[in-house]
Amino acid sequence: MGRKDVRKMDPVRRVLTGMRTTGQLHLGHYVGALKLWLDAVNEGYDCFFLLADVQALTTHADRPEMIRQSVHDVVLDWIAVGLDPTLPNVHFVLQSGVSARFEISQYLLMIANLGEIRRNPTIKAEMKGMKNPSMGFLTYPIDQAADIYMVSPELVPGNELLVPVGEDQVPHLEYSRVLARRFNKAYKTKVFLPCRAKVGEIGRLVGVDGQDKMSKSKGNAICLNDPPEVVIKKVMGMFTDPNRLKATDPGTVEGNPLFIYFDAFASDKGEVEEYKRLYRLGQIGDVSLKRRLIEILNEMFVPMRERREVAEKTDVIEHVRRGTSEASVIADEVLARMKEAMFLF
Ligand code: TRP
Repeated sequence: MGRKDVRKMDPVRRVLTGMRTTGQLHLGHYVGALKLWLDAVNEGYDCFFLLADVQALTTHADRPEMIRQSVHDVVLDWIAVGLDPTLPNVHFVLQSGVSARFEISQYLLMIANLGEIRRNPTIKAEMKGMKNPSMGFLTYPIDQAADIYMVSPELVPGNELLVPVGEDQVPHLEYSRVLARRFNKAYKTKVFLPCRAKVGEIGRLVGVDGQDKMSKSKGNAICLNDPPEVVIKKVMGMFTDPNRLKATDPGTVEGNPLFIYFDAFASDKGEVEEYKRLYRLGQIGDVSLKRRLIEILNEMFVPMRERREVAEKTDVIEHVRRGTSEASVIADEVLARMKEAMFLF
């Protein structure tokens, strides 16, 4: 075998993941997903990061300007956290811009069924409070599978298709695996490599109210572009142990948002253990701990603010145009293989 042949057999290691473009990103996105994305880039995967504007339309068809603005904001947030679209293995992809993706999606719809959607726990949770969901909403798990498989390597040992996400996405990824296997089986092909989910240690982050998952619409989020004074205000107002009235009362660490944040953001684990010990003994106050948390968050925010400031002066959508056309080249190939397997002309 010549050298060239060996090269040809190099495994394909891709990442596809994404976010809905319905607003700005916050610390929950950062610890839940973006940190994993940064790892994937450093590990050398060819990474496709999807700006899911079509999925945003499934629930916000009446707010196109908001979605357009959010595409821009999310790109800035991504660059701020350190995703660098000038690297050869980083592609920012606009979901609506890859036309082959819509075709892949339509064909996958034919092998999906209603019962599966009805049983999907994420869909069930999201549908609570929705009066009359759009058809686009009901089928979005299949559309999301099309997102993933538009860059699918073939089902060959060594190839990888990794999807780093927050915990709430896991049912969708399991379903995507089902669809890939079903397609391969039905059409006797190896077009799709069932994707592999990767969830971080902190799959979801509680909000500053201690009640719920962090979410901008619930008003309990620290956003990635919050200015320093807003971060201070939000941390100072954070919910801690409700039963602790004075700093000398013994406090509860478990489930206390303050300590959840320390665990998520402090790099010195020994320092955090010491705070927990003192807190349980009633020897350290909420206020001094909050001040320390602000310092830790700010250390993280400073380089983010610097990168954002630089990027704001440039046309960031240019990166999106390039990434989208790079993804389209691959998606066209996948679609062609898919159609061939389906005996389409
Ligand atoms: N559903 C994801 C979210 O709510 C966004 C998304 C769209 C996605 N397509 C994807 C995530 C493909 C992972 C893979 O943010």
